[in-house]
Amino acid sequence: MSTPTTAAPGAPVVDFDLAQLRRDPYPAYAELRRTAPLAWVPSVGRHLLTRYGDIVHAEKLPEVFSSREQGSLLLRTVGPNLLREDGAEHRLLRAGAEPPTRPRQVRDLWADAFEKNAHDLLERIAGRGEADLVADFAEPLAAANLALVLGLRNATADDIAEWSRAMMAANGNYADDPDVWLRAERATDAIEEAVAEIAGAVRREPDGSVISSMVHADMALSAIQNNVKVVIGGGVNEPRDVFGVGAQALLNRPDVRDRVLADPSLWKRVFEETARWVSPIGMYPRQLVQDHEIAGVALPAGSRVALVIASGNRDESVFERADEFDIDRPHRPHLAFGGGPHFCMGAWVARHEVSGLAWPLVFSRLKGLRLDDGTEDHMEGWVFRGLTSLHVTWQAA
Ligand code: HEM
Repeated sequence: MSTPTTAAPGAPVVDFDLAQLRRDPYPAYAELRRTAPLAWVPSVGRHLLTRYGDIVHAEKLPEVFSSREQGSLLLRTVGPNLLREDGAEHRLLRAGAEPPTRPRQVRDLWADAFEKNAHDLLERIAGRGEADLVADFAEPLAAANLALVLGLRNATADDIAEWSRAMMAANGNYADDPDVWLRAERATDAIEEAVAEIAGAVRREPDGSVISSMVHADMALSAIQNNVKVVIGGGVNEPRDVFGVGAQALLNRPDVRDRVLADPSLWKRVFEETARWVSPIGMYPRQLVQDHEIAGVALPAGSRVALVIASGNRDESVFERADEFDIDRPHRPHLAFGGGPHFCMGAWVARHEVSGLAWPLVFSRLKGLRLDDGTEDHMEGWVFRGLTSLHVTWQAA
């Protein structure tokens, strides 16, 4: 199969300033949805698919829209892994890794330890009266919880967070910066070593973790190592980003915050609405394995497409007043966790750690919690998007 690196015949060509897209991609997406719902974007080297219905259509046809993208930076960083496989190969890898992340396992195996992690982190900052909740709380919490679920008891939360950052930088290393590759290589070497050690231990004594599950599904060590890299790459920044964006939204909307504090069942709605409103993963790639027409364009086999779920989640034909954060909007499934066979494996982990524990704890424990007027916090990114910081103050006890 050849890999066209240019627009499919008949596809509109639209280019963007990537710096602008990183600052705020939503106006550009709105324009694309209106005028060119499938557009070749030269600076991205892909056709962007931006309407909700077209993204859902693509996700229903994984035999056409393959996840095995040729030349993918993720493959270079991590090696072959479940996220870049299709069909039977994908199902096998997923079946080995997934069981410990199902809702019941999250509740029975991890919830108590997640709660302890959240309490410990909060205790460290509670007396200070001010913090950056992204760096001081949400990121270390996501990393510590991930170490548990994976079974990496030989790694610290700091290790996990650094490995995650190093691999994420490599996955976006379109500039081919050698230092970025080197840092990622150091991270992946360290992960391989840590996983090999744990794999030996859990073979003798299963512990319910993702590594243990994969070992007892008789997966090759290299497959286990690569899947762990994917989980670390994706399991830290997304929960961190939902936490930050949702917390800031509530601090900006005391009316909503008070309703949620009076009725904690609403935290779930806050989570789903936050993930829709500012999707932590904005887009992900697919490559066509056969000719297929979508959004009025006949794409030849080999065409590269990006499913821009952040745009689908703001599609006005599905979500009224889509740019507003509104926890009362009528329920329509959002696309933030993807769809089809690659639907996020960590969805229940993320939902529980953020809306079941982290938000309720922070908002009840830190009295008089408010945004720090002296600092401006920014959202950034379009492939991944979240707050780079969330400075807050409260009355220290
Ligand atoms: C709010 C938090 C999260 C969001 C929004 C999110 C989003 C996503 C999305 C959009 C995909 C599909 C990507 C694609 O099809 O190419 C995905 C896949 C995946 N996610 Fe998440 N994720 C989150 C948290 C997590 C966590 C905490 C973990 C680990 C415990 C995790 C592990 C995975 C894995 C392993 C896959 C690949 C699944 C497969 O290929 O079958 N995610 N995630």
